[in-house]
Amino acid sequence: MTTAPSSAEARKLRSRAWFDDPANADMTALYLERYMNFGLGLEELQSGKPIIGIAQTGSDLSPCNRHHIVLAERVREGIREAGGIAIEFPVHPIQETGKRPTAGLDRNLAYLGLVELLFGYPIDGTVLTIGCDKTTPACLMAAATVNIPAIALSVGPMLNGWHKGERTGSGTIVWKARELLAAGEIDYKGFIKLVASSAPSTGFCNTMGTATTMNSLTEALGMSLPGSAAIPAPYRDRQECAYLTGKQIVEMVAVDRKPSDVMTRAAFLNAIRVNSAIGGSTNAPIHLNAIARHMGVELTIDDWEAHGRDVPLLVNLQPAGEYLGEDYYRAGGVPAVLSELIGQGLIDESALTANGRTIGDNCRDAAIEDERVIRRFADPILPAAGLSVLRGNLFTSAIMKLSVITPEFRERYLSDPADPDAFEGPVVVFDGPEDYHARIDDPALGIDERTLLIMRGAGPIGYPGAAEVVNMRPPVNLIKAGVHALPCIGDGRQSGTSGSPSILNASPEAAAGGGLALLRTGDRVRIDLGKGEANMLVDDAELAERRAALEAAGGYAYPASQTPWQEIQRDTIGQAETGAVLEGAVKYRKLAQTVGVP
Ligand code: FES
Ligand code: MG
Repeated sequence: MTTAPSSAEARKLRSRAWFDDPANADMTALYLERYMNFGLGLEELQSGKPIIGIAQTGSDLSPCNRHHIVLAERVREGIREAGGIAIEFPVHPIQETGKRPTAGLDRNLAYLGLVELLFGYPIDGTVLTIGCDKTTPACLMAAATVNIPAIALSVGPMLNGWHKGERTGSGTIVWKARELLAAGEIDYKGFIKLVASSAPSTGFCNTMGTATTMNSLTEALGMSLPGSAAIPAPYRDRQECAYLTGKQIVEMVAVDRKPSDVMTRAAFLNAIRVNSAIGGSTNAPIHLNAIARHMGVELTIDDWEAHGRDVPLLVNLQPAGEYLGEDYYRAGGVPAVLSELIGQGLIDESALTANGRTIGDNCRDAAIEDERVIRRFADPILPAAGLSVLRGNLFTSAIMKLSVITPEFRERYLSDPADPDAFEGPVVVFDGPEDYHARIDDPALGIDERTLLIMRGAGPIGYPGAAEVVNMRPPVNLIKAGVHALPCIGDGRQSGTSGSPSILNASPEAAAGGGLALLRTGDRVRIDLGKGEANMLVDDAELAERRAALEAAGGYAYPASQTPWQEIQRDTIGQAETGAVLEGAVKYRKLAQTVGVP
């Protein structure tokens, strides 16, 4: 019989308080008898072997992560071989493309549930099964709060999608196909077929959307095995990775390597730089800032600009580039990107990772295997590809992803020789996605190619959890005239699979009294990317009048809550800038250490 590593025996594992506590014999017996009733033996449970949780995010409701049900078998084999006992349990499922009104609503719910499971059950360490957009931050946030040894296992991206010999990327194809549909170039059936071609296998979005971004950043943070993020879900390497992850967590418990040892400020700054180099999603700041807050690491939206803005775009994946997940993996994945950044001194190589080695030791020598997909630092796709933080009388902060500003957009909006970094125009304001869908093609709005589209009422409070709706398409008549993108500004989020040049995550949102609530259709807004400013050109006296009228009316109106959770979360959620976390939850940190074994 394998025994647990000696250092784990020397340090009393928290599961012993359930399974082997002579001072509380009656409770111990109660805990033991029920965990034995499905086949675990008394000797096993009292052997001193660590109990390893497998936090299962896959289910029929969450197809992106469903392959974890298969992978968990290999995780168990790794855990068992290394001398641990596996206990698999469900995490509240979050399917980005399935949950109404928005999957953003559920990240904090899954977080809360997982905190209770990791804290309240006999678990010494856990494998976090990550993948679809919100599942990754929810798991890392919970691991940060409880702070027991934890390692993430990505489910991996789908295989590449293809249509008529061209790569079709999940999500990204929807934004293209809806233009073709709106312009009458394809019909409903053709539209569905084109979109479905982008999802050929199990796994998560094969584009550099929020899923590939967050799985890559998890690896850059050091919370998963090196090279693990990019392996496509169906590849045999993914199974092997599951097995190795199971083995690794047992070692982590033995030496008590916790999230707080790995997710340091240095690790977060590394992740911010990687986010720029991969052309990561605009949801990344919300999620990473949320994880940092639960970890108790200082991280602000300004860090994203200070450390990430000038890092070049190296990874040529849709939506900013051409390729998809299989290509990313074959080109070297995250280690190749890290190696390139390490070569420039942009990574703190001393950051510890899950396998006990530093990120430098893990990735320094990784090679780029295909320079069309992962470019050299000296030959980037774009020179400064990070996020720009904008401020002004519209909001305290909002972000813009510089890597998706297309030549077409630059030509139309940023080509005034006197002011090449700025543009201004009249706005058309939409209150929530339903309003936008109902009116975008209404000729009475008079939208032309100089119009800025505004989406408000879509933030963490207004559209509970914040909807991914800021990337609005132009009206059909403009698309037919060749205008594929108008500048969009909003307090909601945007899908990471969208290449829309939008100003997003505006904080505070309209529903929290932000400046967007005062804006009216026909006002002019000026954006200065050089100065990092976004302002409505409305004089202060007029703004004060509008503010007074808004307050007299009881504030910005948004739809009533439809479920208990919508109401509960609305009462305590913060703004996008600070991670949209449950503010009341942040003070609970490192539960496994500060509270002790209950
Ligand atoms: Fe699940 Fe994109 S919808 S990863
Ligand atoms: Mg998304």
